[in-house]
Amino acid sequence: MPSQHGLSIDQKNQYQEQGFLVLECAIPIPVIERLKSAALTIVDEFDIDTQRTIFATTDRDSGRDDYFFNSAEKIHCFLEEEALDNTGNLLKPTRLAINKIGHAMHDLNPVFTDFCRQPLFLQVLRDLGTSQPHLWQTMYIFKQPHIGGEVRWHQDASYLISDPPTVTGIWVAIEDATRDNGCLWVQPGGHRSALREIYQVDWARREGVLTTLDKTPWPDQDEAIAVEVPAGSVVIFHDHMPHYSSQNMSEYSRHAFTLHVAGHSANWSKKNWLQRPALGDFEL
Ligand code: FE2
Repeated sequence: MPSQHGLSIDQKNQYQEQGFLVLECAIPIPVIERLKSAALTIVDEFDIDTQRTIFATTDRDSGRDDYFFNSAEKIHCFLEEEALDNTGNLLKPTRLAINKIGHAMHDLNPVFTDFCRQPLFLQVLRDLGTSQPHLWQTMYIFKQPHIGGEVRWHQDASYLISDPPTVTGIWVAIEDATRDNGCLWVQPGGHRSALREIYQVDWARREGVLTTLDKTPWPDQDEAIAVEVPAGSVVIFHDHMPHYSSQNMSEYSRHAFTLHVAGHSANWSKKNWLQRPALGDFEL
């Protein structure tokens, strides 16, 4: 955990060398519980009949869907693929059917606004070299018991393009994350590897395309480590860090809340799927 004076030299060095950093139990559990409760309230108010868009990260063609693009400036719920039958009927209670909520929770819900503005994140980001971080997106990820889907190997810089690449991910464990319920896996040092893919939107056609940039293979399982952390822990990671999470085969959910920030002076690609013309900048 960082002290009130920020990250230690060892922690900064570890981030530089490994591309990620774990701050175990950095957030008090009552704060975590407040986030969880706010997320469940959003789900309870979700009108499932009018919005049956499925967000499956194994199929990024969902970028065709306006519901996804529009979520950049809204709070949208996305369903788990396996939560619907062939005719679109829900097979689970709504609270157990949602894959995630995104992507402007920090702008539009005061519980999440307050959480994101806590001094810890700004301090950590400054210590790691981002002096004026802009918060581009927030997500609440459910990883539901039994049906929480795999998120395949990827690098966040493929989906959040800035020049120079300055995106940092902040991943907050709302519940304990273990191998059984689909914790993060990362490749230590992999942040120095090439960017394999880039996802860009042709706005004239409102169509997103994932293009291969580099054929470097994704890490083997023996090159990856499981980031098993208790609730309240924070994982910071570099935008070139290869990471994935497996399907949740357990009976326990694995909730997480994520923030993605970029340096204020970095150029945000107009081909990014995530654009915020109405909301504008959100400075931490
Ligand atoms: Fe990611």
